[in-house]
Amino acid sequence: MRSDIPRYPQHIAVIMDGNGRWAEQRGSIRSIGHRAGAKAVQIAIEFCLEQRIGSLTLFAFSSENWNRPQEEVSTLMKLFLRMLDTEIEELHRRGVRIRFIGQRSDFAAEIREKMIWAESLTVANTTLNLNIAGSYGGRWDIVNACRALLLSARNPEDITEESLGRHMALADQPDPDLLIRTGGDCRISNFLLWQMAYTEFWFTPTLWPDITRQELSQALADFSGRERRFGLTSEQILGEQA
Ligand code: IPE
Ligand code: IPE
Ligand code: MG
Repeated sequence: MRSDIPRYPQHIAVIMDGNGRWAEQRGSIRSIGHRAGAKAVQIAIEFCLEQRIGSLTLFAFSSENWNRPQEEVSTLMKLFLRMLDTEIEELHRRGVRIRFIGQRSDFAAEIREKMIWAESLTVANTTLNLNIAGSYGGRWDIVNACRALLLSARNPEDITEESLGRHMALADQPDPDLLIRTGGDCRISNFLLWQMAYTEFWFTPTLWPDITRQELSQALADFSGRERRFGLTSEQILGEQA
């Protein structure tokens, strides 16, 4: 087996989907589902700390989610703000480095300030990189990188996969090895389009608030049994085992 292909994920990305349906199944309003979803976030973080995963990237709010009913957007923003107030210090104590990716200017000043505070508080931490995607879209990320690269590029040859990649979100971390999406839909919903070129996808019908560490372990076990070929043949991959 090629030694440069990790059998164990260094980076897990998660599309935390199904909060609304979870609430609807209980006859509750969607915001109750989002609150339950916020608790499930702690399970995922705990799991990654325990398993010594290097990076965890959570899709919290997409560029498109702004188009949801105003009341739901406002609930989500309040919840986001509350989590920034209540969770960051504990995460810092546990050595978690926090980063936010996405179009920050879309958020209210109060949230933006807390994002900056959380990032600078935890900047030297090394146990887990926790990346939170808010007002994030994979297409936004690519356009944003193009704009940044254009400031230094002098001719078309300066635009390469490497130079553009350096301007994408999370360029300092390995690309996600594993994407987990809960909620039963098998799509990417404009998440890390560039970074997930060779990511392994794992889908489950479980709604996000019902996620358990057992199920996350199952995703890891499934991942470790997959053969990642990166365009090579199986023989090439296995050939290096000897
Ligand atoms: C994911 O759950 C959370 C966000 C998108 C913010 P949903 O709110 O999309 O829940 P469903 O998919 O409608 O059940
Ligand atoms: C993806 O879920 C975004 C987040 C989990 C934050 P959505 O519920 O917005 O995705 P679609 O609309 O079903 O594709
Ligand atoms: Mg959804």
